[in-house]
Amino acid sequence: MLDIERVRGKVERTNAIPTIPLVIRKIVKAVENPATSPAAVSRLVSSDPALTAKILKVINAAMYGFVARISSVNQAVVLLGMNVVRALLLGISMFEMMEQTTVGLWKHSLGCAIVARLLAQKKGIFDPEEASVAGLLHDIGKVVLSVQFPKEYQMAVTTARDRSMLLPDAETEIFSMTHAAAGAYFANTWRLPEFVVESIRHHHQPSATKAAPLHTATVHMADTLVKAYNVGFSGDTFVSAVHGYAWEVFDFSEAQMKEIFAEIGDTTAQVDDFFKNPKK
Ligand SMILES: [Fe+2]
Ligand SMILES: [Fe+2]
Repeated sequence: MLDIERVRGKVERTNAIPTIPLVIRKIVKAVENPATSPAAVSRLVSSDPALTAKILKVINAAMYGFVARISSVNQAVVLLGMNVVRALLLGISMFEMMEQTTVGLWKHSLGCAIVARLLAQKKGIFDPEEASVAGLLHDIGKVVLSVQFPKEYQMAVTTARDRSMLLPDAETEIFSMTHAAAGAYFANTWRLPEFVVESIRHHHQPSATKAAPLHTATVHMADTLVKAYNVGFSGDTFVSAVHGYAWEVFDFSEAQMKEIFAEIGDTTAQVDDFFKNPKK
């Protein structure tokens, strides 16, 4: 078992990963400085056209279901805030470092963002964009652990599969923490809004949150539904049921659930398409 402080230290120092592109490290540093304006951050991101294209593509897909509503980095920074944009940039660059096989986790995360937005819209309880951000980042702990401890993370996935365990239990045996806790450390380090930190920390046990019950229940339900629909692959071979607490929060009628299931069906095809057609 790895020492918890060692794991935490590496989770909190993602910016020090040598393969993080220089431009992203510069942006991360700039955001740390309270004198940096949102316009300056937008200029830094926009100085790299490939990065600009990537971040806009991800934000539009996750938040607007593939409709390109956000056309500039400046708009994204105004809408989401500098800290969220910074975490997304770090997240995207780490996803790119992971092996090809982990495209499944990317698909899972994007699917979760889209379904979380759908649930928030259907219930009309809070900002659907907030739901997408939380959905997109909910498994960021898996990404950070895989990048910082590739061999050990692979071991957690195979242990869970071979011993018919839930992935968080296998992770705890190896890392002394789950990917949900690791993700919350990451989110805290980069000062993400509290609803994001909370929904990452408790997405497997939504009733444990005090600070963000709606967001956490939304991410939990979206996460479980995309797994059930096999959108991408999250690394969990076993899918647990939607927690009773989340059903209570939403209290959807049967007709609403039918609509949601039909829309998730469409999402599966869109997510596959997103990864097949890099120009989209
Ligand atoms: Fe998870
Ligand atoms: Fe997940």
